[in-house]
Amino acid sequence: MSQLPAAAANAPSIGDPAPPPELVHRVSGQSLPAPFYVSDEWFTRDIDEIFSAHWIFAAAEAEIPEPGDFVTVTFATRSIIVIRDDANEVRAHHNVCRHRGARLLTEPAGSTGTIVCRYHSWTYGTDGNLTYADAQAPDFDKTCFSLRPVRVRTIAGLVFICLADQPPADLDDLADIVEPYLRPHDLANAKVARQTDLVENGNWKLVMENNRECYHCGGHPELLNVFFPTWGYSDTDAIPPRLGPVMSRYRQATEELVSVWDRLGLPHKRIAQLDTRPTGFHIEREAMDLAGESFTLDGTLACTRLLTDLGEARLGRVSMHMQPNMWLHITSDHGLLFSVIPLAPDKTLVRTTWLVHRDAVEGVDYDLDRLTSVWDVTNRQDADLVELAHSGIASPAYVPGPYGPSEFQVEAFVNWYVRALRGEHTWPQAAEDPDGSHR
Ligand code: FES
Ligand SMILES: [Fe+2]
Repeated sequence: MSQLPAAAANAPSIGDPAPPPELVHRVSGQSLPAPFYVSDEWFTRDIDEIFSAHWIFAAAEAEIPEPGDFVTVTFATRSIIVIRDDANEVRAHHNVCRHRGARLLTEPAGSTGTIVCRYHSWTYGTDGNLTYADAQAPDFDKTCFSLRPVRVRTIAGLVFICLADQPPADLDDLADIVEPYLRPHDLANAKVARQTDLVENGNWKLVMENNRECYHCGGHPELLNVFFPTWGYSDTDAIPPRLGPVMSRYRQATEELVSVWDRLGLPHKRIAQLDTRPTGFHIEREAMDLAGESFTLDGTLACTRLLTDLGEARLGRVSMHMQPNMWLHITSDHGLLFSVIPLAPDKTLVRTTWLVHRDAVEGVDYDLDRLTSVWDVTNRQDADLVELAHSGIASPAYVPGPYGPSEFQVEAFVNWYVRALRGEHTWPQAAEDPDGSHR
């Protein structure tokens, strides 16, 4: 009879019973057990305890530039209207009529002067106040039936919402840290050049995990023209020999750009607080390969009208990751925003938004296909990898496997997630965890 290798003998056995959902148990440094990714119970907990309890990225302000412009954010049984009101403020309301509960706006985006319920025509202003309700009793008080508000916060042109009555209290602190990185690119005054919705056949956590490492970047030949696959390897880590030449180029490009960033007063230091606070995040400036200007095949600009008046095309990229559902890249000529919305245990919406200067003209300043082609194909490649991962994890043969050093952000995401489910994130942070910095 053959013997199992020692490592296999230590692994969980195929057919081990799944942990009950009330036990948030995982082995540090390993991928999660299968039920976290495939079961309805864990999906419900993710909706209730992650997406309904934390700040989530909803939209760019550029998606709703004029009063009355709105987007709806819908996941599981929740739907939220994010709308610019008549006073030009960004607001968020539950998309539920105060009469008998009908869903109000059913389109993903649009523009409207008032929010009218299709059922019995109750009508609300963009600020959520009820303005019309036909045939009510004489003592009916409209002021008691405004749309239920959702907390909303904009940060440098990005709109975040939180469904919780008591949202995580660290968003102001996060804004103080990230705004100096984002503000110079003026995303609040940009325009949407294109937006795509891709439904990936995998759990939302697999989408996030896939985003948090470049171990798989060999699957992205187009992106790798300009994206250094050294991402995730710190100077002290063992760098695979195959990445030696590219690491040299990365270091040289970084050295050159640091002097540019410093001259322009652009912050670039890496700040990583991914799993040590309620709203975990990471932000930094990174050099890019070849011309180093944009996400094109040769790295040269995709849009000749730059986002800002800094007068410098080669700025590399601002990279920001935020738990639980967003990441972004900003080059000198465009912003690229990604949001992740869970639809089912095995279905996830990935929305990609390309922002350019509001005065940039398609066909003159940018060609839409050149602007979007690298990330279009990269998104499809990632969707394929996420489906591959979900398919394998759904098999009874799956057992959690180990993360390597370059997958530290995957570990940080999973650790943040598990700590969130356990209610371990506090703010202000405990004294023994003073700044949340790690790695
Ligand atoms: S449910 Fe909306 S008006 Fe009746
Ligand atoms: Fe990828």
